[in-house]
Amino acid sequence: MTALLEVRSVAVRFGGVMALSGVDLDVQKDSITGLIGPNGAGKTTLFNVICGIRQPTTGVVLLDNEEINGVPTQKRSAMGIGRTFQRLELFTTLSVFDNVLVAAELARVSNPHAVAREQIELLGLTDRADTIAGELPTGSARLLEVARALAGRPRLLLLDEPASGLDDVETQQLGVLLQQLKSLGIAVMLVEHDMSLIMKVCDQIHVLDLGNVIASGTPEQIQHNPSVIDAYLGAVR
Ligand SMILES: Nc1ncnc2c1ncn2[C@@H]1O[C@H](COP(=O)(O)OP(=O)(O)OP(=O)(O)O)[C@@H](O)[C@H]1O
Ligand SMILES: [Mg+2]
Repeated sequence: MTALLEVRSVAVRFGGVMALSGVDLDVQKDSITGLIGPNGAGKTTLFNVICGIRQPTTGVVLLDNEEINGVPTQKRSAMGIGRTFQRLELFTTLSVFDNVLVAAELARVSNPHAVAREQIELLGLTDRADTIAGELPTGSARLLEVARALAGRPRLLLLDEPASGLDDVETQQLGVLLQQLKSLGIAVMLVEHDMSLIMKVCDQIHVLDLGNVIASGTPEQIQHNPSVIDAYLGAVR
């Protein structure tokens, strides 16, 4: 089976810092793939490379077998790569509905109003459609970010710490939503420090440490991997 996304020997250098040093990993279709590791491991940098915000110093990214290095961000989103940001990047003066509508229009979907309504409903935000985004509590704001990313009808959705600032109930609801997205045929790549969420929903997990993939495997395999426990899990458990 060919992977939806292939990252091959990707390195990113910031001056003297190697944020990524030769990362190889795959994301399968119809799967939830976790990307975990300590602060500064390179997780957000890898997302930036995948969605085209940053060019790798060396290495390639392939979507459906096609090399996409050099393809601009907006084209990548039209090719099916959507993302959310670690720090919320909403239009804080626009309503919930308009935030999603703008995203749907930018993605040039055929019926942006219907798509916006559909995503807002999927995320359980219909009652708040007219609320100004800047007035939302963190939990709903995070969900709105996901709705915006979904408005481009992605095949691959990159979520950067979507549970950050959510309470236990909201985190559980997010887990259910991620399973639902998977059943709709959307591959999810999930960066998270909430290990209970990661271990519950992921099919496959890649662990980054200091810019290197130190382990890849199922949640069961990752939880018992001594190098992962040393580098990361020992500190967050
Ligand atoms: N624009 C930048 N300029 C210089 N260095 C950067 C830049 N962005 C990231 N870095 C460095 O690259 C490394 C990886 O950072 P990155 O933000 O990708 O880590 P992360 O795994 O997402 O961490 P966190 O869990 O804290 O979000 C860090 O050493 C960081 O300081
Ligand atoms: Mg990050």
